[in-house]
Amino acid sequence: MLMPPSCRTMWVVLSLLLVFSMSGALSLDKLNMCMDAKHHKTEPGPEGQLYSQCAPWRDNACCTANTTEEAHNDNSYLYSFNWNHCGVMSPECKKHFIQDTCFYECSPHLGPWIQKVDQNWRKERILDVPLCVEDCHNWWEDCKNDYTCKTNWHKGWDWSSGINKCPEGSKCRKWTEVYPTPKSMCEQIWSNSYLYTTHSKTSGHCMQLWFTGPNPNKKVAEYYLNNAQRRQSFAMTISLAVSFFSVMMF
Ligand SMILES: *[C@@H]1O[C@H](CO)[C@@H](O)[C@H](O)[C@H]1NC(C)=O
Repeated sequence: MLMPPSCRTMWVVLSLLLVFSMSGALSLDKLNMCMDAKHHKTEPGPEGQLYSQCAPWRDNACCTANTTEEAHNDNSYLYSFNWNHCGVMSPECKKHFIQDTCFYECSPHLGPWIQKVDQNWRKERILDVPLCVEDCHNWWEDCKNDYTCKTNWHKGWDWSSGINKCPEGSKCRKWTEVYPTPKSMCEQIWSNSYLYTTHSKTSGHCMQLWFTGPNPNKKVAEYYLNNAQRRQSFAMTISLAVSFFSVMMF
């Protein structure tokens, strides 16, 4: 059936508007959601009893109290992860890994960086979450006298004993040999879950592992989501213009 051009134009406009509004509706959830991973709740919500370093997330969290208590233990039931694979990890260094675990398990504002993943222990992961420069630098500074045998702690361990040990052929080296810079550590240690940035905590353009008071990361997620949407809207506008033009040419 052949429609008159004005009618065809209307259909193009209507369907594009539909796509627009749908992308808007979907992204609303991205500001307050939990990833589909090993220990996350399905929906974020208040958790009065979050433990110690994880307490800042208690108003709205993807983790349970149990998860946060376990996050402070060595070889905890969460992932049986052994921080002490090259001698005992210093307490100054370990507190950053605990904080990193709180952030990963509890944060309800990671939506813009959640990706589907084909792994047997989780369906989603985070990728390139922009970290504040202070958090990355302090983490590296506090760990720089520790030792490790691996760059990427997500894979390649010897799990035969039930906890991760250094794989055969690897050797324990100074932290600074494995990670020459804060950037190399933050990006490589969890296979690019984090992105190094030079933004400071006051910029509103980076995610904070350490904070007190209301969670500052919601605004940051909103900022990145809006930016992505602006780019998307721009692409939409262009395609709208092209559709108009081609309809007029008939
Ligand atoms: C958390 O839950 C697990 C599994 O139910 C249990 O084995 C563990 O003891 C609990 N941990 C704490 C600190 O309550």
